[in-house]
Amino acid sequence: MKKFRVAIIGATGAVGQEMLRLLEERQFPIQEIHCFASPRSEGKTVLFQGKPLTLEALTEKSFQSIDFALFSAGKSVSSIYAPMAVASGCTVIDNSSAFRMDPSVPLVIPEINVHTLKNHHGIISSPNCTASVMLLAVAPLHRKVRIRRIMATTYQAASGAGHQAMVELQQETYATLENRPFHRSVMPHPYAFNLFLHNAPMTPSGYNEEEIKVVEESRKILQEPELRIGVTCVRVPVLRAHSEALNVEFEEPLTPAQAKEILQQAPGVIVLEDWENNRFPMPSDASGKDEIYVGRIRQDLSNPNTLDLWVVGDQLLKGAALNAIHILEYLLEFPKFLD
Ligand SMILES: NC(=O)c1ccc[n+]([C@@H]2O[C@H](COP(=O)([O-])OP(=O)(O)OC[C@H]3O[C@@H](n4cnc5c(N)ncnc54)[C@H](OP(=O)(O)O)[C@@H]3O)[C@@H](O)[C@H]2O)c1
Repeated sequence: MKKFRVAIIGATGAVGQEMLRLLEERQFPIQEIHCFASPRSEGKTVLFQGKPLTLEALTEKSFQSIDFALFSAGKSVSSIYAPMAVASGCTVIDNSSAFRMDPSVPLVIPEINVHTLKNHHGIISSPNCTASVMLLAVAPLHRKVRIRRIMATTYQAASGAGHQAMVELQQETYATLENRPFHRSVMPHPYAFNLFLHNAPMTPSGYNEEEIKVVEESRKILQEPELRIGVTCVRVPVLRAHSEALNVEFEEPLTPAQAKEILQQAPGVIVLEDWENNRFPMPSDASGKDEIYVGRIRQDLSNPNTLDLWVVGDQLLKGAALNAIHILEYLLEFPKFLD
């Protein structure tokens, strides 16, 4: 079997660590693996297949003997280094927002729009985690009955802001319980036993950048440039897995039972509903799981042709690392997409 030379950029991060674990667990055919992080980490190590790998700092020459580069080190790193990687003949899968809305770059969730891979020119973007969790649930419904409008409210975990945000939430929780003062350096507001509107920069529209990403990326992935989407993103003190309350209006009637049947057959989706015991998906169900969970599928009593859904997904996985690995696996399975 052919083996490949792979680079992980952001290997010490929340997403990078998951990518390393997934490559190992899924036995990706690796000939060589190179791990990159910031210059602060140069010379330190990360573990892969039980062995320490020395972290490298990025240079123009980093990609000369690499087949696939998986970027997960933020927009500015991708903006600079992904084009260099492509120029070296490497195929890039990028978890940052750097190229997602570039019309020449496919924005791919394989379960939904794998056909767009054929248009790539070296860079393939993996979408925003909140959009990914939402779309895995709504795209299969949209394929059956066209969606007219989505209203979403999100309950986003600390892991969506990276490894340091998870550490800070844990430390702040201990400090609060022990009545100690705590100095935050990642989150802008008290987070333990609290919540706040998503801290992404605000835009003149009144939506913050996270909310704009959900709107624009969802439209691109569903190939519905005019789709009406409203979203409010909230940070909640959960370590891992985003939750979302979705209100979805369709152009024609779709009953909760029909939606449930569609979602039970949808790839990457688990329907978890126990109406008798009022038990629906929770972040603790979805943490560490490949699938997203959907439940409490019900008719919106205030609007015809409209359903309410509750969706929970480990955004480090299908919202980032696992989606990137799925794209990579798909490229190998169908090498025509590599040309
Ligand atoms: N977290 C999520 O749920 C999620 C979901 C979808 C997409 N993403 C995207 O994935 C990326 C990483 O997110 P994350 O949550 O994993 O963040 P993170 O935990 O903060 O990790 C950031 C990683 O980037 C590295 N890095 C920082 N500056 C660098 C530089 N100049 N050169 C090379 N590496 C550098 C860091 O290395 P050091 O350890 O040396 O600082 C670290 O490995 C971001 O673009 C984010 O938007 C994240």
